[in-house]
Amino acid sequence: MPELYIGLMSGTSLDGIDAALVNFKDNKVQLVDFEYRPLSADIQNAIQRLSKPDALISLKEYGAMDARLGHLFADVVNTLLAKTDMPASSIKAIGSHGLTVYHAPEIRFPFSLQIGDPNVIAELTGITTVADFRRRDIAAKGQGAPLVPAFHQAVFQNPDEHRCIVNIGGIANITVLPKHQSTEVIGFDTGPGNTLMDLWIKLQRNLPYDKNGAWAKTGKIDHSLVELLKQDLYFKAPPPKSTGKEYFSLPWIYQYFDAFSYNAEDVQASLCFLTAITICDAIKQYAPNTERVLICGGGIHNAYLLELIQQQLECPVESTELYGLHPDHVEAMAFAWLARQTLNNLPGNLKEVTGAINSVILGGIYPGNKKGDIMSPE
Ligand SMILES: Nc1ncnc2c1ncn2[C@@H]1O[C@H](COP(=O)(O)OP(=O)(O)O)[C@@H](O)[C@H]1O
Ligand SMILES: [Mg+2]
Repeated sequence: MPELYIGLMSGTSLDGIDAALVNFKDNKVQLVDFEYRPLSADIQNAIQRLSKPDALISLKEYGAMDARLGHLFADVVNTLLAKTDMPASSIKAIGSHGLTVYHAPEIRFPFSLQIGDPNVIAELTGITTVADFRRRDIAAKGQGAPLVPAFHQAVFQNPDEHRCIVNIGGIANITVLPKHQSTEVIGFDTGPGNTLMDLWIKLQRNLPYDKNGAWAKTGKIDHSLVELLKQDLYFKAPPPKSTGKEYFSLPWIYQYFDAFSYNAEDVQASLCFLTAITICDAIKQYAPNTERVLICGGGIHNAYLLELIQQQLECPVESTELYGLHPDHVEAMAFAWLARQTLNNLPGNLKEVTGAINSVILGGIYPGNKKGDIMSPE
């Protein structure tokens, strides 16, 4: 009998929704199928407005967006099930990350808010849904992020070599996997992944991202500018730490320099280099023994970014695909895995990563209603 879960992920890039159907039979991790749905411009704009530190948005609009995303997530799951010809009753649970509208782990009453109502997902799919993964870790005094390192450890740790996993989404995060299982795994957000490059090309050329880093490559890296940006306190702060697009934003760029007085492509090249160097500096500082770097997340498709990362590191830099998981699937698969942890009463956070005082079982459980569902006696 397979042991099937669905992971739903929608990251800070606001590009779209990833849904991974995963089989955990015999404690293996095997992708069965995958579905991707781009987010409409309408939703992207609404989320961007919601995410502003001083957003002027009504509770009605906020609540409606929460419900609307719940419908959208459910629809992606139902499309995935139709495609694979799987009945909902064969799926133990959905792990839904939700869409982050605000991540504020460092304020007096810290919080991280993901929306996409799991009640709607459970009702429209009939499948038990686990959601709201981050807030329990924050309640335990953690950052609530990153949460993928426990999954990275489960699938990529290797007794023969020190590895480092780099997930380049809107924000970039690393997981340091020592070859000795007894040594602590560490992980944290290094800072911007694609987000600054995405913001700049959107502003300058009205494109969602810099395909393969081709535009950045036509520019000239301004090293003194990168040095200036690297002085930001986030890069200097020790882990545990996490960040979001509320912080690494266009105002973040403008506070450091007058971006419009430079050639636009030179700014892009410099932001690309900043992204690469802050990832590599984090690896050099916190994982100096790394023998292999594995990359996942959409940033892997930015060939120029990858070139710059490889230039900074002496060890091989490769795709997670060579180690069993396609880089575009890893994060959604992680949320399928996290849902399984929760239903098995196992913790999902690594407290040394998030800084929580305890390992905690993450998320809320929203029971499904289909016959054969996980909530019925087996
Ligand atoms: N061909 C490509 N060239 C450059 N960047 C790309 C390419 N494909 C995807 N990306 C980048 O990857 C991002 C999406 O990555 P993803 O891992 O889904 O991030 P998130 O988890 O934040 O949603 C896009 O916004 C874009 O910046
Ligand atoms: Mg994405």
